[in-house]
Amino acid sequence: MSDTLSPENRLARLSLREKIGQLNMLSPMKPTLEDSLADIIPRIRQGEVGSILNIHGRDNITPIQKIALEESPSAIPLLFCFDVLHGYRSIVPNPLGETAAFDPDLWLRTASLAARETAQDAIALTFAPMLDVARDPRWGRMAECAGEDPFVTLLYAQAKVQGFQGTGPDWLAKDQVVAACAKHFAAYGAVRAGLDYSSVDISEQHLYEVYLPPFRAAVEAGVASIMPAFVDLGGMPMSANRHLLTTIAREQWGFDGVFISDYAAVAELVPHGMAADLVEAAGYALKAGMDIDMVADAYSRGLPEALERGLITMEDIDASVLRVLRLKHRLGLFDDPYRLGGKDAAPITISTQDRDLAREAALKAPVLLKNDTQLLPLQTEGGSILVLSALAPDDNTMIGPWNALGDPADVGLLPAALQQALPKRRIDALSLACLDTLDDTQNMQVLDAAQKADTILLWLGETPDLSGEAGSRLDPVIPAGQRALFDAVNALGKPVILMLCSGRPLISPEIIGACPTVLATWFLGIEAGPALAQLLTGQHDFTGRLPVSWPAKIGQIPIYFGDRSTGRPANPQDRFTSRYLDGPVTPLYPFGYGLSYADIKLVSVDVHHHAIAQEEVRITAHLDNGSRSEGEQTLFLFIRDIASVPTRPKLELRGFKKIKLAAQQKGSVQFSLKRADFSRDAHHDSPADAGAYQVLVGFNADPNQLRGQTITLA
Ligand code: GLC
Repeated sequence: MSDTLSPENRLARLSLREKIGQLNMLSPMKPTLEDSLADIIPRIRQGEVGSILNIHGRDNITPIQKIALEESPSAIPLLFCFDVLHGYRSIVPNPLGETAAFDPDLWLRTASLAARETAQDAIALTFAPMLDVARDPRWGRMAECAGEDPFVTLLYAQAKVQGFQGTGPDWLAKDQVVAACAKHFAAYGAVRAGLDYSSVDISEQHLYEVYLPPFRAAVEAGVASIMPAFVDLGGMPMSANRHLLTTIAREQWGFDGVFISDYAAVAELVPHGMAADLVEAAGYALKAGMDIDMVADAYSRGLPEALERGLITMEDIDASVLRVLRLKHRLGLFDDPYRLGGKDAAPITISTQDRDLAREAALKAPVLLKNDTQLLPLQTEGGSILVLSALAPDDNTMIGPWNALGDPADVGLLPAALQQALPKRRIDALSLACLDTLDDTQNMQVLDAAQKADTILLWLGETPDLSGEAGSRLDPVIPAGQRALFDAVNALGKPVILMLCSGRPLISPEIIGACPTVLATWFLGIEAGPALAQLLTGQHDFTGRLPVSWPAKIGQIPIYFGDRSTGRPANPQDRFTSRYLDGPVTPLYPFGYGLSYADIKLVSVDVHHHAIAQEEVRITAHLDNGSRSEGEQTLFLFIRDIASVPTRPKLELRGFKKIKLAAQQKGSVQFSLKRADFSRDAHHDSPADAGAYQVLVGFNADPNQLRGQTITLA
């Protein structure tokens, strides 16, 4: 079916009800899809629905699309949407875990895989990537983002948008791509006290330096849609924030895509205390530039009266409808409304290649935090090993929060993988759900199993329901019941290797301190078991690095490397400096931290900057792998503006690179900084100030291990 009608021509033919229908997104609300469709289908026939979320599968979607095309007055295809955050069927590590790979090419490839599977299931748009910069581990949604740094999140944005949408002028109409949706615009990660949905109150400087750059990068990468955050920004709810949605994103950045509200967020302008009623809420949101109302039915029920009250104009409605029709047009929905991929309804299967990619991601995500007594790598010969998991069923946990169509049955389990990797050692397994307390029977089970083992692999941490949306925790620690489990096992005096599953740093310094070997596994995806077996046995080295600072104490929150100096930097010898009486000001583990089996050292850093040229600053880091095994190291490049008005962060990340070195091999890594890279925001909006800058290189954000020198920009 070739489509000759332009979006403009289609708009001209729509009634007011149909126009508002294009701005209305519905979702199944009843326990069964059949009951939900009983509500949705009649409204589709009336032309009151433009898009649908949370329905997947060609078998479900095609009949609904058919009704829209053949039984509604305007025959405009529906836009089917779904949350695909870290895989659709082939689940990879949760975003925070995948960020620990510090590998933009990997981030792109996993998004491309997710897009292919999603498109095959007839879905056209995903509510991803999540680009919130997160610095508060009390906030459960840290699991869904790319960590604490705007530069990393900016690169993540570029990679994910390109991975989901592809590239090139007609990128969206191609098979195997989906429209992306950058979310949640903006500064959602700065919610007060890590309390989800609560207010955000930050300086404009902070907004521009930290929270906006990733979204601007997504816009420049051509992101098809943006989802404003639930929160208010200094009293202005994002769902009605005309300054950010229209003045900044559309007029200054040139965003020509669609703003899609978060779930019922338009109606929530009433409880926010901004709108007196649903009509006002609808008027405020549309006027701000919000195009689609997700499931609140605020536009359907409120816009006609908002028009009558003069809160909005028909031009406002037409502008939003036109953007929605243009998106559908770019997606090729008018040419091929049953869209994409397999024209048949072939079920999605996970190919060997897909599983290999999930394995690659799962190998690169875990972070080795401690290995004091070299319990790792596990030796091929020796006594028995007990895999003791408190996350049961641990296969389910590994698909993490926001797991789309992830199936726990697809998850490779650790005990079996470890047995395969260590055929000469006995591998036992005990898996029990333990978040609160263990009953006597469970206690006996644990002690009985642990007493028989020579080495214990203890897997503690969060299950998916303790993480993600509405997952704020006052105490982001190893759950209480598991502390008892740890104490019981540790009291046996056997070697314990602690593995922490979570979507955030777990601030349990006592337990971490009592264990000689600790690693963060995150929610590792379908290849969790096989990947961990390779890492634990040394078949693959740990290369993951922390994308967030790991606090030493809850009281330090928020703690991140990009904070500002003070007039009184912490001095342990001087009470009257910026320090605590009862604990450290430094994190337990800094951003970028992570151990590897190979011991690669940073020998020296040369900084070449010819004041005359001023074109670029070239940095060369010299490294030496003194160990007997090959290895990989990640180097981070920071700058610091020594004196600026207003002041800038103590460290600003401006690059990271990896280097592989064979045993006993020396090597070097080159970085190059242009003048624009010295701008105060990661997106280089503001010109770089003249003056003195430190240029520093190191393995993480601990300032004491950084090397470099001061240069002067004229
Ligand atoms: C949720 C989340 C958002 C998600 C949307 C649709 O409340 O805030 O990230 O995309 O609703 O599921």
